[in-house]
Amino acid sequence: MGKVYVFDHPLIQHKLTHIRKKETGTKEFRELVDEIATLMAFEATRDLPLDEVEIETPVSRMKSKVLSGKKLGIVPILRAGIGMVDGIVKLIPAAKVGHIGLYRDPETLKPVEYYVKLPSDITERDIFVVDPMLATGGSAIEAIHSLKKRGAKRIKFLCLIAAPEGLKALEEAHPDVDIYIAALDDKLDENGYIVPGLGDAGDRLFGTK
Ligand code: URA
Repeated sequence: MGKVYVFDHPLIQHKLTHIRKKETGTKEFRELVDEIATLMAFEATRDLPLDEVEIETPVSRMKSKVLSGKKLGIVPILRAGIGMVDGIVKLIPAAKVGHIGLYRDPETLKPVEYYVKLPSDITERDIFVVDPMLATGGSAIEAIHSLKKRGAKRIKFLCLIAAPEGLKALEEAHPDVDIYIAALDDKLDENGYIVPGLGDAGDRLFGTK
């Protein structure tokens, strides 16, 4: 079974409180999502492998650690996932970025893929799939299926707020995926919004309401 990490770091919790508030405007919302994504990426990269190299400081020679050069990829789920990309790229500037777009079929209510553009070497990369809200889990589950179908082997999922329903569905559908969340909320309402949540993350990020 994949692991679930819920971040209780004070900086993340503080910033999350501000993005939840309904009076927080687009500019501040965007900046805070970016900062939370950076802090989450710091934790989610904790298991990156290191190599030892020999270097010379002004004082003496020493053995020191550097990243082993593992290839990473970030895949935001359109559209709100885009808000988390820059914050992660700040820490992992060499990461390649793919995109997956899904819409909900009005009849089947199932997510349907309308856009997929991924790094060509997706099979060799460790992938961070990002979406601020894990509500029913439908989009995350489908996006990860889509990545696995194209050969991705090691996938982590990062979101800001999860509903218990979505978390359970994602864990069941993809037990090999580690899930990183900043807050686990109470439930979904009848319209599929996370309660208490923060409203529509895409609208709040892009000012489209
Ligand atoms: N997507 C959102 O943006 N917000 C929710 O509460 C649920 C899904």
